[in-house]
Amino acid sequence: MATLDIKDLHVTVDTEDGTKEILKGVDLTIKDGETHAIMGPNGSGKSTLAYSIAGHPKYTVTGGSVTLDGADVLEMSVDERARAGLFLAMQYPVEVPGVSVANFLRTAKTAIDGEAPKLRTWVKDVNGAMEKLSMDPSFSQRSVNEGFSGGEKKRHEIMQLELLDPKVAILDETDSGLDIDALKIVSEGVNRFKQNSDKGVLLITHYTRILRYITPDFVHVFVDGRMAEQGGPELAEELESTGYDKYVSAARA
Ligand SMILES: Nc1ncnc2c1ncn2[C@@H]1O[C@H](COP(=O)(O)OP(=O)(O)OP(=O)(O)O)[C@@H](O)[C@H]1O
Ligand SMILES: [Mg+2]
Repeated sequence: MATLDIKDLHVTVDTEDGTKEILKGVDLTIKDGETHAIMGPNGSGKSTLAYSIAGHPKYTVTGGSVTLDGADVLEMSVDERARAGLFLAMQYPVEVPGVSVANFLRTAKTAIDGEAPKLRTWVKDVNGAMEKLSMDPSFSQRSVNEGFSGGEKKRHEIMQLELLDPKVAILDETDSGLDIDALKIVSEGVNRFKQNSDKGVLLITHYTRILRYITPDFVHVFVDGRMAEQGGPELAEELESTGYDKYVSAARA
């Protein structure tokens, strides 16, 4: 079971010009086995939503609730959220010089499971995940994200998804910067994750291309800090041809 329930979420960020409200009452429920796509203009607050769910300290929740299977996510520390089964693939993955991919993954897996993975099966799992994502085995010895190309960073995020096996995966523009083959490989990785019927996926994207590989159950339009519209996959196609104008004007009115 995995239901992520977001109700009337308000979030502010402290900027040089004072406190700014970015999320203005977000409602979203992701049930077991559902894939939700969020599309919306630049700066509308999509990444802020992803970071707020994951517990980034820069964002202050000023109202509303986030629960995972009934447990209060907002009360949890960042690691507790990860242990509870939340996973975030960031839009701009951070570099961690001096920490190898292999060590990073093992440390993360150990922290999440509460015990170190058995070495033999772990090496097999890591190599298997790399092979499935067509990553060169030498990657495991490189520093996390350091000098990785845009596409390599995104594959590395999906490799984490594959190995850490969370309940709910939030993927923030995991499709951006991928070439055609990599987009397919990454989508296949997400679809393998989705095969387990109890998983939830929140996919933030600007492009309908990825939605042809990963079929969403729901598409949401996100404008000015809240959901402006909800529909099925056809809504993504509509947005592709008409853009966000209608929703942006309605939000201003
Ligand atoms: N740490 C921060 N400091 C200052 N402003 C911030 C911070 N984080 C977010 N913002 C502002 O909040 C707004 C929403 O940003 P966010 O990154 O959530 O948008 P987005 O919808 O993900 O955009 P994009 O499609 O370009 O990725 C922007 O105006 C951004 O400048
Ligand atoms: Mg963003």
